[in-house]
Amino acid sequence: IMYNVEQLTAASTEALRTIIQQGLITIALLGYLLYTNWRLTMCILIFGPVIGFVISKASKRMRKLSQQVQDTMGDVNHVVQETVNANLIVKGFGGQIYEQERFKQNSLENLRRGLKMVAVQQLNSPVVQLIMSVSLSIVMYIALRPQILGDTTAGEFVAYITAAGMLARPIKTLTDVNEKIQRGMAAAHSVFELLDMPEEHNTGKLNDALKGNIQFKDVNLVYGDGHHAIHDFNLEVKAGETVALVGRSGAGKTSLVNLLVRYQETTSGQILLDQKPITDYELTALRTQIAMVNQQVVLFNRTVRENIAYGQLENASDEEIIAAAKAAYAHDFIMALPQGYDTPLGAQGLNLSGGQRQRIAIARAILKNAPILILDEATSALDNESEYFIQRAFDQAMRDRTTIVIAHRLSTIENADRIVVMDQGRIIEQGNHAELIARQGAYYQLHQRNFEEH
Ligand SMILES: Nc1ncnc2c1ncn2[C@@H]1O[C@H](COP(=O)(O)OP(=O)(O)OP(=O)(O)O)[C@@H](O)[C@H]1O
Ligand SMILES: [Mg+2]
Repeated sequence: IMYNVEQLTAASTEALRTIIQQGLITIALLGYLLYTNWRLTMCILIFGPVIGFVISKASKRMRKLSQQVQDTMGDVNHVVQETVNANLIVKGFGGQIYEQERFKQNSLENLRRGLKMVAVQQLNSPVVQLIMSVSLSIVMYIALRPQILGDTTAGEFVAYITAAGMLARPIKTLTDVNEKIQRGMAAAHSVFELLDMPEEHNTGKLNDALKGNIQFKDVNLVYGDGHHAIHDFNLEVKAGETVALVGRSGAGKTSLVNLLVRYQETTSGQILLDQKPITDYELTALRTQIAMVNQQVVLFNRTVRENIAYGQLENASDEEIIAAAKAAYAHDFIMALPQGYDTPLGAQGLNLSGGQRQRIAIARAILKNAPILILDEATSALDNESEYFIQRAFDQAMRDRTTIVIAHRLSTIENADRIVVMDQGRIIEQGNHAELIARQGAYYQLHQRNFEEH
């Protein structure tokens, strides 16, 4: 985005200035030439289309080349960004040579295209100038014939030739600017491609306070690549209920909760919130009422306080922030940080442990105090002791709200009102812990395996 917008800015400011300046000079000189000797000027103008043809040929080629160069520029930046972000993986898996090679290949490709572009650029002006000079020589030759020269005096003739000669410079500048415009057009194309991408559908108007009744009716989700992640899913969650989703990795648990915050849209079927279709709710109104702790914790390069009180929670008071942190069992380790709540977390919160990062994310969700709480693997990175505390905090937080917990560690969800076992996007079993254990089905097996692991 930045590279393309820069190109576009250069093209529109510089090019516009040159076109106006040099364009006016060209028009004035042409007017003078026509006024002095129109026959001769017509001869010159015959060469105009020839020059124009060459210019348009060259500029078409330029546009294609600069498009290619821009695409590879993107690739190089991408390689660098990816390698830096993933530097631990690169080092840990010995990917240095591979990444270096990838960077080298991309840079070389970039260089090759860049050279080609410069070559075409450099060829562009000399060719145009050559055409200009040749045409001027022919003009001189014709002009010296008496039929055309007529009764022109020597003085007038010199003035005419001088003016015609002066025309070369502005025309050359104008052809140069053409190249810049072509580059700008290629950049504009990329920028508009991005701007024209469809936005999130947000046609709903409702902004009622949610009670927390959730109903999935024949919900299907098919991802763009054709993967059918959720199959004819039917589930009703009453306000205040705690429902645990369990199932093998890839069963569709995260996909299902992503539908609730409309990160994904249902392919068919309906989700009702308090008996009204989810799409009837205004998107922001919907999302402010659902607190979600994602499977991948995301923290910002800001202070602890700003990370907990993020976005809509910006105006939370210190007491509220501390209460949320205490509830998430994060207060103690936060106080042990060098500047307490004002400690900057560094990029992606990398100066915290995995469990600490997760507790900050949980504090953020608790502070949101929303009627619907979604915890995706919220306790997976915690040791048994912190898990115990977090569990107590959750029991508190879950008390008067609808909660959907996704867990791999089954010990954390034994108290849930209902446990829903999913496989390949379908419900294969549901009931409470005791019932499911007694049934000795899929949950029982998961439980046995879980028990062996821990
Ligand atoms: N954006 C996506 N595009 C295409 N397929 C996807 C996408 N996200 C997930 N999937 C696929 O959908 C299926 C369900 O994924 P999902 O993340 O919901 O599983 P999960 O139950 O949360 O697994 P885990 O327990 O490992 O978190 C998987 O087979 C996955 O490959
Ligand atoms: Mg998941």
